[in-house]
Amino acid sequence: MDTLRIRGGRPLVGSIPIAGAKNSVLALLPATLLAEASCTIENVPAIRDVKVLVDLLRRLGAEVAMEGTTLRVDTARVVNRPMIDSGVRSLRASAYLMGALLGRFGEAVVGLPGGCNLGSRPIDQHLKGFESLGATISQRAGAIHLKAARLRGTRIYLDVVSVGATINIMLAAVLAEGVTVIENAATEPEIVDVATFLNGMGARIQGAGTDVIRIRGRSPLNACRHAIIPDRMEAGTYMIAAAATGGEVRVDHVIPLHLEPVSAKLREMGVFVTEGDESVTVKGTDPLLPVDIKTQPYPGFPTDLQSPFTALLTQAKGTSLIIENIYEERLKHVLELNRMGARIRTDGRMALIEGGTPLYGMRVRAMDPRAGAALVVAGLIAEGETAITDIHQIDRSYERIDQKLRQLGADVWRE
Ligand code: EPZ
Repeated sequence: MDTLRIRGGRPLVGSIPIAGAKNSVLALLPATLLAEASCTIENVPAIRDVKVLVDLLRRLGAEVAMEGTTLRVDTARVVNRPMIDSGVRSLRASAYLMGALLGRFGEAVVGLPGGCNLGSRPIDQHLKGFESLGATISQRAGAIHLKAARLRGTRIYLDVVSVGATINIMLAAVLAEGVTVIENAATEPEIVDVATFLNGMGARIQGAGTDVIRIRGRSPLNACRHAIIPDRMEAGTYMIAAAATGGEVRVDHVIPLHLEPVSAKLREMGVFVTEGDESVTVKGTDPLLPVDIKTQPYPGFPTDLQSPFTALLTQAKGTSLIIENIYEERLKHVLELNRMGARIRTDGRMALIEGGTPLYGMRVRAMDPRAGAALVVAGLIAEGETAITDIHQIDRSYERIDQKLRQLGADVWRE
């Protein structure tokens, strides 16, 4: 059951509910470790990475109960221990265990994080932040050892705008003595969501969503209840698929502002995009106009939607240019798209997409969630049947993608 089959050529029509944001919940789960309490997290997406992270929390002694899309995490009986097994290496978000365990216990041993292979993904800015807070750090046998007799608030300037480093430093700083100021912080909506959760636990964080975040340490933190923001990447992917198939799709339970970068680019292509209070409707047009994409930190065009957007651009009437500014190697999906008939040339971080190219069903492989999403969009466009293997990669980040696509009229099934 690790292959998704798609018979392309059908316009997507209808509406679907969008789940909670993966890149928020994967930080909120480790954040629960910062209090000896029972936190309730609502609107949790049914994705594989959540299951992996819940297992890691259970290994630490947390009691986790799932009812529908609500998770209850009781961390009263958590005992610190080295976290170096396979689950840690399977996702990038396990790095958040460093900040959370360091904040709660003053010590952490965490295996080097894994996750999508998008080139080198150092954690130097995370470690720079922890050292600035007073931790001593060593790396042995593929694990990071962090220790701090006490964590003291300080001023930290991030050399790189990093979502993970911004969040990880927040996790370590909320229980530190004194005030921590993170400068050149990332401003993604998921960071605001994590700050809202931590403030719900009693933390005092100001400025999340701007590039200067101020954290006044406070101890202890308490239980809280929080509903996760909608997943702008899931929503954006279905908006792109609607445009690619010439259909009409409404994505529900979204925050339209968070989707502005994608909506703006789709409008540039001639696509009709209308916004409700908590929904966005996309209606495909013909012809689609070519556009250039430069990925940037929020509120720029998100790197996580670059791959599916590449598949859409193969259908524009003209040549488009994509420049991937966030990751060294995030154009691996191009190889598989070209096997399906696309004509894309790459050079380093640049991809030149010749439009108007018919795509044909083919057996292809999902290398990571967003590259897999690009192949899904291509399969929905292609003539004939596409078989996407390693679909577990897509299931890491997309909730029940086959069911949601079938709900929109796609001819898609798992086998
Ligand atoms: C988060 O990854 C997301 N993952 C990614 O989504 C997303 O692409 C990325 O943010 C950018 O928005 C999760 O939230 C679990 P970064 P993260 O630190 O935190 C460099 C998806 O498909 N960097 O903002 O790892 C780094 O190499 C995933 O949902 C350093 O140099 O991303 C990259 O080039 C993929 N040193 C850039 O910064 C550091 O210490 C941005 O990385 C940290 C990062």
